Amino acid sequence: MRRVVILTGAGVSAESGLGTFRDVGGIWSQYDLSEVATPRGFARDPGLVHEFYNARRANMRAAEPNAAHHALARLQRAHPSAVTLVTQNIDDLHERAGAGAVVHMHGELSRALCAACGARWDAPELMHPADACPACGAQATRPDVVWFGEIPYRMDEIGRALARCELFVAVGTSGAVWPAAGFVAEAAEHGAETLEINLEPSETSGLFDRHLRGPATRVVPDWVETLLG
Ligand code: APR
Repeated sequence: MRRVVILTGAGVSAESGLGTFRDVGGIWSQYDLSEVATPRGFARDPGLVHEFYNARRANMRAAEPNAAHHALARLQRAHPSAVTLVTQNIDDLHERAGAGAVVHMHGELSRALCAACGARWDAPELMHPADACPACGAQATRPDVVWFGEIPYRMDEIGRALARCELFVAVGTSGAVWPAAGFVAEAAEHGAETLEINLEPSETSGLFDRHLRGPATRVVPDWVETLLG
C-alpha cells in the first residue's frame, strides 16, 4: 500500500446533511463569514458566534456518517501506517465512522478553547459568552475551531506527511482556502501522484493528475475498494 495523504472538505459531509460553504445556498451565502468565523467577529459579538456554532454543533450531532466516511475509515484501519487522514471539516463524522487518527487542521466543533489561558475541553451542547473556563474561570470560552486569519493546526505534521506521500487525494473540497489549497502542489513537488474526488471541478482541479467526478458516497467507496482489492 502506497503512503497516501487524504484531505477532505465539506463535500464529504454534504450527503450527511451538513452544509458546504461555497455551493449554491452554502453556509457563506447564509452568514457573513467575517461576523462568525474571524477573531474580530468574535470580539465584536461573541453571542452571535456561539449561536452560529451551537447550530452547527446540533446539526452535527443529528447527522450520521455516510458511505464515504465509512470507506475512508475502512481504508485507514486496513493500513494505519500508510494513510494520513487530514480534514478541513470541524465535524466528527470521520471519527464516528471509525476513523482512528484524524488531523483536524481547522479544529473541532466538539471541542472548546479558552481564549485567555488556552485550556481545551469537550464542548457542551450549547456555549454562551458568559461560560467560565473550567481551568482559569475567565469568561473567554470559544469553539476550538480555526478562524480566518488564524494558523491552522498541526501544519508541521501535515507538511511531513505531504513530503513523504506517494499519493495525495482531495475529497469534497473547493480548493478555495489556503493553506489546504496548496497541499496538492506540495505533494506533487515531492513526486506524489495526485487524485481529486469531487462532485464538480474545483479551483485546483488543474493541478491534479487524475479526477473522479461524482458524489462522495458513490465514488469514494468504489475508489477504496480498488485500493483494498
Ligand atoms: N460529493 C463530493 N463533493 C461534493 C459533494 C458531494 N456530495 N457536494 C459538494 N461537493 C464539493 C463541491 O463541488 C465543492 O467543490 O465539495 C466542495 C465543497 O467546497 P466548500 O464548500 O468550499 O468547502 P471546503 O472546500 O471544505 O471549504 C474549505 O473553507 O470556510 C472555510 O473552514 C472552512 O474548512 C472550510 C474551508
